[in-house]
Amino acid sequence: MAPRVALVVFTLGLLLGVASAIDVFREMEFSYSGTDGPNNWGKLDPTFSPCSAGKRQSPIDIQKNMTVHNKQLKPLARIYKPANATLVNKGFSVGVRFEEYAGELWIDGKSYTLMQIHWHLPSEHRIEGQQFDAELHMVHRAPDNSTAVVAVLYQEDNAADPFISKLMGRIHKLGMENSEVPLGIMSANKLNRKSHKYYRYVGSLTTPPCIEDIKWTILGKVMSISKEQIVALDTPLNSNCKRNARPCQPLNGREVDLYDQLSC
Ligand SMILES: *[C@@H]1O[C@H](CO)[C@@H](O)[C@H](O)[C@H]1NC(C)=O
Ligand SMILES: *[C@@H]1O[C@H](CO)[C@@H](O)[C@H](O)[C@H]1NC(C)=O
Ligand SMILES: *[C@@H]1O[C@H](CO)[C@@H](O)[C@H](O)[C@H]1NC(C)=O
Repeated sequence: MAPRVALVVFTLGLLLGVASAIDVFREMEFSYSGTDGPNNWGKLDPTFSPCSAGKRQSPIDIQKNMTVHNKQLKPLARIYKPANATLVNKGFSVGVRFEEYAGELWIDGKSYTLMQIHWHLPSEHRIEGQQFDAELHMVHRAPDNSTAVVAVLYQEDNAADPFISKLMGRIHKLGMENSEVPLGIMSANKLNRKSHKYYRYVGSLTTPPCIEDIKWTILGKVMSISKEQIVALDTPLNSNCKRNARPCQPLNGREVDLYDQLSC
């Protein structure tokens, strides 16, 4: 029976058009387990080579004894504004894409515009070896394409995250990979919580193509997320992308700077 099944699948592929079959395949080029899992990302596509060859990759385990208290660092400067947005299931993460100007972040006098946010379950970055239950990535981009990501760690608790609470009804409507749900006007301002402490280092995107020279800011203040919210963010993901956290990568001598308003 097996060869006949294979033949039927192949014929169906021809009927649907080989090009579209390849497109579908290329949409989902990596996963979090098995042969296309994180240890093999660098081999899956030539453009993914930084995932294995890169020396400044993310995420990292932030050991406090390796951080340098940098007094040149300033309080995190950012402003978010209400903007039209779309909820997106990429199959490997659930997130929100902003369709218009949604605010910006300033680092060393340079401005980075908020483009999209998405969640990882459990956290990718660790502190002193501790992994948290979830991590939010707020991805900002400058006109020259340089990228700065602000990461927020969450621990599961009875208290729900107020921003995710506003999305819950729409997350339940989200379908499989590549499905989208319009959100209308949303503000990321609920995510702009004050943190008197953050870590700053230079790393990479945590998903292929793992491009480097990303300016990371990991907030020291851990937020809470409810069990129900974790389940809602996890349910739409592809089965091989549950637990979508890339393992920690070697620091390779990089410096991790600490901004801490309360210590001198
Ligand atoms: C930092 O702490 C870790 C364990 O928490 C230890 O393994 C490591 O040797 C320490 N590194 C330095 C530079 O003190
Ligand atoms: C929001 O963006 C979507 C996608 O670009 C668009 O279809 C929709 O009309 C926009 N809504 C508003 C209120 O601008
Ligand atoms: C930024 O990236 C876009 C596509 O991602 C590209 O079209 C554009 O040329 C890039 N700009 C710069 C300055 O590299």
